[in-house]
Amino acid sequence: MPQDGTPNGDVSELDKLESDIISEIADASGLSDLDAVRVSALGKKGRVSALMQKLGGMSAEERKAFGQTVNALKGRVSDALEGRKAALEAAELESRLANERDDITLPVRPGPLAEGRIHPLSQVFDEVNEIFADMGFSVAEGPDIDTDDYCFTKLNIPAHHPARQDMDTFYLKEGADGNRMVLRPHTSPVQIRTMLNQKPPIRIIAPGRVYRCDSDQTHTPMFHQVEGLVIDEETHLGHLKWCLEEFCKAFFEVDEVKMRFRASHFPFTEPSMEVDIDAAAIGKPGQWLEILGSGMVHPNVIASCGLDPEKYQGFAFGMGLDRITMLKYGIPDLRDMFTGDLRWMKHYGFMPLDVPTLAGGMSS
Ligand code: PHE
Repeated sequence: MPQDGTPNGDVSELDKLESDIISEIADASGLSDLDAVRVSALGKKGRVSALMQKLGGMSAEERKAFGQTVNALKGRVSDALEGRKAALEAAELESRLANERDDITLPVRPGPLAEGRIHPLSQVFDEVNEIFADMGFSVAEGPDIDTDDYCFTKLNIPAHHPARQDMDTFYLKEGADGNRMVLRPHTSPVQIRTMLNQKPPIRIIAPGRVYRCDSDQTHTPMFHQVEGLVIDEETHLGHLKWCLEEFCKAFFEVDEVKMRFRASHFPFTEPSMEVDIDAAAIGKPGQWLEILGSGMVHPNVIASCGLDPEKYQGFAFGMGLDRITMLKYGIPDLRDMFTGDLRWMKHYGFMPLDVPTLAGGMSS
């Protein structure tokens, strides 16, 4: 038996087999080629496995030495296969990266993907968020079902105040803690939630659903508002007017909007103003349309949230989102907004990729 433990002078035979396999591996030009080499070498009926059959005719000692030699060979072949596989995979990826190109500027192809539409109201939510974000407002949220305390009491509307009736609120059962829950009739409770949880300076908008027991061509029991709140040490009425004017110009995409600030009354603001816009902005000059209520936050409201009204002041507004959506996009009946009629959506809806931005255009 030769010194290296291979019986019958097989050394050169093994070396030849190994160098054959290694060069086949190097020559494999693709992954499937390489796999064929693997099977022919290490597969059950492969050339290396065949060597093992020789073990049967060997002595225990020979078997041990030969087994080790073959295993080492197997290891080297496996390593070579792995190495080549990684190289071929990398080359394949390289060529795909070099050859495959997606033109992301192409329009969406006709087909199911192009069928979906964004509801005009969702589009308006995005437009409003974008415009106020640019003025430094962040978005705050509150629940649709809120407490009587946040919806009224802390907003300076005490129990039995007539303003509670004005709102046509949907009342729910009294909770265990004696606090009555309501479907919020306005987004103003988010003012309270924000002032209770955040230190001034505060600058938020709160878009969302609101509910009132009311239904006709211009009223639905559920509709949408966006609340605005700014609280710091020096914000005044001039800032409120500027903010709303800038908003209207950006929203209606015009250089000038005529606005009318009418003295009004809300328990949670003093002074209070309702704001109308001249519908010239949407091609109906001379018609005044009310779009929001606003005013300087009442000191009682600031105090009810634990802030010092001697130190802090600011403004708030609440705007009807359905109303401005109908105005901007020429939608005649409020109720159609919520029937989910696909023909309506096709007509008034927006393509999903038309995201409104100040730079790229709000609605185009
Ligand atoms: N919450 C009022 C409403 O729903 C609107 C409003 C909000 C008025 C904030 C003034 C300040 O009618």
